[in-house]
Order: sequence, then structure tokens, then C-alpha cells
Amino acid sequence: MNIQEIKENIYFVGAIGWDKRLFDELIPLLNGTSYNSFLIKGSEKTALIDSIYPSKYFNLTGRLKEIIGGKIDYIISHQAEQDDIESLQEFVETYPESKIVTNKRCKLLLKDLLLIPEDRFLLVRDGDKLSLGDKTLQFIFDTQVNWPETMLTYLKEDKILFSCDFFSSHYVTNELFLKDEKKIYNAAKRYYAETMMPFRTSIIKSIKKIKSLDIEIIAPSHGPLYKEKKDFIVNAYKSWSSDKVENEVIIPYVSMRDSTENMVEYLAESLTREGIAVKVFHLTDSGIMREFVIALVNVATIVIGIPAVLTSPHPNIIYATYLINALKPKVKFISIIGSCGLGEKTVDILAGIVSKLKAEIIEPVVVKGYLKDSDFELLDKLAEEISTRHIKIGIANKK
Ligand SMILES: Cc1cc2nc3c(=O)[nH]c(=O)nc-3n(C[C@H](O)[C@H](O)[C@H](O)COP(=O)(O)O)c2cc1C
Repeated sequence: MNIQEIKENIYFVGAIGWDKRLFDELIPLLNGTSYNSFLIKGSEKTALIDSIYPSKYFNLTGRLKEIIGGKIDYIISHQAEQDDIESLQEFVETYPESKIVTNKRCKLLLKDLLLIPEDRFLLVRDGDKLSLGDKTLQFIFDTQVNWPETMLTYLKEDKILFSCDFFSSHYVTNELFLKDEKKIYNAAKRYYAETMMPFRTSIIKSIKKIKSLDIEIIAPSHGPLYKEKKDFIVNAYKSWSSDKVENEVIIPYVSMRDSTENMVEYLAESLTREGIAVKVFHLTDSGIMREFVIALVNVATIVIGIPAVLTSPHPNIIYATYLINALKPKVKFISIIGSCGLGEKTVDILAGIVSKLKAEIIEPVVVKGYLKDSDFELLDKLAEEISTRHIKIGIANKK
């Protein structure tokens, strides 16, 4: 992407990592991601917002030279996550007169991570303002989206919120501003699920905090910017982070010899008869894991399907359960179904992994070998129990 003017004297100077396949060596990317960086040219001072993908560092310095001739007064550092600060060290050397503007917490981390000298920092607190002449930056933090040191920047005169990871998505496009929300919905929801969901209560606080700002443009650190579609992303975040769950069950499962699969298929039919939406994810396909994570966002109930392998649940299910626990979805109920000789032990292992979740555990259904009539009855009872619980919390109607 070339230099693009967002508004007068405000430029997108970021880069696209088309080649990126794994973010943080953890999150699979479908077609790369963008590393957004912004330059604000005030009548007296200039400020750069967020850092850039290291292999594109020289493209950035070239662009800056073209726009402002090479002098930067401030580099705003929103948080100390490596993807946002990757080329900060080079920056400090290339622009020796520049100051890194950040908060106390972030400074301590930057000093440890990048060995940046003390005299290069300019510390700000929540609500502080920094004048660039005809443009004023205002800093917003104490909301933790998503780390304790994270802050956001509001450019008052131009009504732009530089929101860091908040409202980001790993979605590559050469459109600066999002035009069609249908195109981004899954990527934005997936970013929320994988990166923001564990901090759901902080997100609720942050949405309240930015409500008082008059925002025209939201400029996150990854993915497209929001102008006409800014209400779409704010409303989507409101819905994802709210306590409201949907009348839906997801069933992540693995089955080596079809016994668990037969149970999953039967339970899915039984839940459908109860009027509950069902999504089934066979977790031997790694691509499915991405879809499965998105489905965690608003789901009311998760039923995990397991066969026993070497006295434990199948390793893919252990991974998926670990992920569920780490991402802390607002799920209300969890149950387990499966076909395994060492039933109770495998169930105990899974129940132990979901310790961070506030969900209630519904009595598991564990069978041995070929499904018998009594096993089908147990699965019907499980579907009925899930339905009763959904009715009780007000997301399904009485039959
Ligand atoms: C590699 C392998 C390891 C297994 N380890 C155990 C085990 O430790 N304990 C057990 O009860 N069953 C074990 N089983 C048996 C399966 O859990 C059992 O056949 C189950 O019904 C398979 O369910 P599925 O058809 O859904 O794959 C193992 C099966 C395989 C193929």
C-alpha cells in the first residue's frame, strides 16, 4: 500500500504482511495481516502512531521522508506487544530527536524488551493531551484492551480514534476504509475471539469509555479503518462482549472409529428437535479449529465429544479444551459425550482443564462400544436437559 491520506495531514504509512501465515507463531492467518502505522503532521510537531513490520521498515522511513522530510517529534507507543513495537528500536536510532510517548507501565516493558534509554520517553496519563500545533492528541487508558499497559489515542480536531488492537482484524485489503461489512465480519469476529475475548469485561468498560468521544474514524492497528461502517464494528463488539448468549450448542469432537461420531450425530438431531441451533466441528481438520474458535463467541452450551486414547482424551480435544479455557467465552453450560473404556478418568481430565470458565457442568454421557437403546435415551435426556437450562436462562421458549 502506498502513502494514503486519511484526512488532511494524516497519513496511513503502514505495511501489509501478505506472507505472514502465523501471527505470534500462534494464530493461523488466512491471507496475512496488515501492520497499520499512521503519521500525523501538525502545524508545529509530527507524530507517528504505532510501529511497523520490520522487513518493511525502510519502506516506512522512505515514506516519512517523502511526507515530512525526515524529522519526527513523537512516536506514540500504545502497548508493548511485539507486533506493535517491532521496529521501535530502529526508529529511535533513525530519529534521534524523537520521544516515545507512552504510559508508565508501557515504558517499563519497553525498557526491558528493547533497552530504550530513559531519556527517550515522554510519559502521559489517562486523559492527558499533547499538542502538535493545530492538532491535539488525547490519551485514553485504564481500560485494558487488551493488556494492562494498553492505551488508545484520540485525535480531537479530526475525530479519529487510533484504537490499537481494539476493533482490529487480520484481514488484508487495499481498501483503506472498510466498504462492505459482510467481507470483514468473520475476520473481525475471529480477531475478537482469539485476541480480545479473554478480556471481555475490559472491552465492555472501554466501549463505555469511548462513548463520550465524537468519533468519525476508527483506525485500528490491524485491518481496514472504519468510517461509514464504524457503527457496525462498535455494535458487533457490543454484541460479542455482552452477557447475552444464543440458543445454540456447539459440539467439537474427534472420533477414530465412529462411535463418538454416531453419538454426536444423534445428539445434534435430538437438539434440533428441541429447537436449538447446533454446530458440529470435527477437530481432526486444523482448518476447522479457526471456525470453531469463532463459534465460541456467543454460544450458550458446548458439548465436547471424546474417545479415550492412551488413558486420556484424544490430544486434539485436550488442545481444543485448553483453548476454550484460555479464551474464556461466556458459555453457560458444558457437557461431555464420548465412547471410552476409561470413561470417568477422561471426563475428569477435561473437567479439570476448563477451570477458568464459570459454566455449569451438565452430567456427561459416556458409553462403551456400540451404541445401545439405553445410550440413545441418555442422549435424548441430555438434549432435554440442555433445552430446560436454555429456557431457564431466557434464551429459548417453553415448549
Ligand atoms: C490409539 C488408540 C488408543 C486407545 N486408548 C484407549 C484407552 O487408553 N482407554 C480406553 O478405554 N480406550 C482406548 N482406546 C479405545 C477407544 O477409546 C474406543 O475404541 C472408543 O470407543 C473409540 O471411540 P471412537 O469410535 O469415537 O473413536 C484406544 C483406541 C485407539 C485407536
